[in-house]
Amino acid sequence: MAEAPRADLLVLFGGTGDLARRMLLPSLYFLDADGFLPDGFRIVATARAEMTREAFVEMVQADLKARAEGVDEAVWKRFCARLDYVAADATTVEGLAALKPHMAGAARPMFYLAISPSLYARVCAALAAAGFAVDASRIVLEKPIGRDLESSRAINAAVGAVFDEDRIFRIDHYLGKETVQNLIALRFANTLFEPLWNNLTIDHVQITVAETEGVGERWPYYDEYGALRDMLQNHMLQLLCLVAMEPPSDMEPDSVRNEKVKVLRSLRHFTRADAQNASIRGQYTEGVVGGRAAPAYAKERGQPSDTETFAALRVDIDNWRWAGVPFFLRTGKRLPERRTSIVIQFKPVPHSIFDGQASEDLIANRLVIDLQPDEDIELLLMNKAPGITQGGMRLQSLPLSLSLLRAYEGPGARRRIAYERLLLDVISGNSTLFVRRDEVEAAWRWVDGVADAWREAGMAPKPYAAGSWGPAGAFALIERAARAWYD
Ligand code: BG6
Repeated sequence: MAEAPRADLLVLFGGTGDLARRMLLPSLYFLDADGFLPDGFRIVATARAEMTREAFVEMVQADLKARAEGVDEAVWKRFCARLDYVAADATTVEGLAALKPHMAGAARPMFYLAISPSLYARVCAALAAAGFAVDASRIVLEKPIGRDLESSRAINAAVGAVFDEDRIFRIDHYLGKETVQNLIALRFANTLFEPLWNNLTIDHVQITVAETEGVGERWPYYDEYGALRDMLQNHMLQLLCLVAMEPPSDMEPDSVRNEKVKVLRSLRHFTRADAQNASIRGQYTEGVVGGRAAPAYAKERGQPSDTETFAALRVDIDNWRWAGVPFFLRTGKRLPERRTSIVIQFKPVPHSIFDGQASEDLIANRLVIDLQPDEDIELLLMNKAPGITQGGMRLQSLPLSLSLLRAYEGPGARRRIAYERLLLDVISGNSTLFVRRDEVEAAWRWVDGVADAWREAGMAPKPYAAGSWGPAGAFALIERAARAWYD
């Protein structure tokens, strides 16, 4: 891929917000520590709050010091010199005027909108009117890009009126996670899996994103979205796409994204009957998670709500490779453990040659890709249990493990924040790990179908106790397909 010129300035809107303080500024610091920030690269944080540069810098330093990694004095000195702060109202040209002197000398600015998506359209229009949206500039957006297809189109159109598509970087932070990228390596840097990666050999796929945290104070946002729009439309469909896509011809942004869009377009439309038979919505009631009492969602929300905090569904991909292979997706808040995993369940051997052990007694191979909390890849294989028995042999299933934690441990090794990779890619202008407009819209089109089917079927969320694996219907839906969740 031809190298794009590197950005020389980051303007961080929402510069004092939670995302900036917990993720973005620490990520930039770590990039600087590893020598990834270009010489002369500057960071101007901006928000409405009046604050001096000194106060902002102190805040960033305190945030960094509070982290387990600690702060290296020499790195901090270099990083601190890049930082600047200016109070500005980004939604008007007049408000943006305050920013102008701070951007002096920058030829290739990147604008990061760590602000409410409801402001994206206005900020982009203001950036254009202020003359900041120069040809070499880039814009970074966070989810949620809309709440449905129609609202996402409106946002995309407003941003697209100011920035060309190749200058728009839509973040799905799951794509910045090490193991998610490793999925691409695993599939396409090994000859072993690809010939088996289809409906001849694979029985089904499970994708679980379980969280122990509840919604808590985020309810004003969450209540509008629910698990379907907050997790499934983006993170989980991205994981599904990476598992299901055809081999791209190379790692060019459009090569990879074209393949993902094809998968999204092949997702079978959800009908009202599917809603009842192949999906479930849940909402947590009070319970105990990790030994601690947890309140009901309705209590956090302050009133009863129709929003799901848990969703599980069976997804079918109508194409040659995946016909007949169900993908079971499940996500929820206040589940018993924090775990993100992808399970590829292979079919059993067609015939058992082992006395007394039918082919279904032999545990079929399973590839388990754990993304969180630990990064690990395990391949379950059958092998002979050691020792001798009276006639025949005893078999057992054991994992072949590629623990990334162990593989990369050593001095200086640490788990990177997903945003480090993504910020570095925006600086370098590489959009492979960002979501293209037609991709977001294809995902919304399918998700709108699920939401409509739920509405038509009158599916209210079923209660589940905090600390449980969701409503009973989540088990019933996979059992109807004669499979079971791997918990
Ligand atoms: C965010 C969702 O996009 O992802 C949150 O809005 C969710 O509700 C979070 O908790 C999960 O991200 P991670 O990286 O902690 O798995």
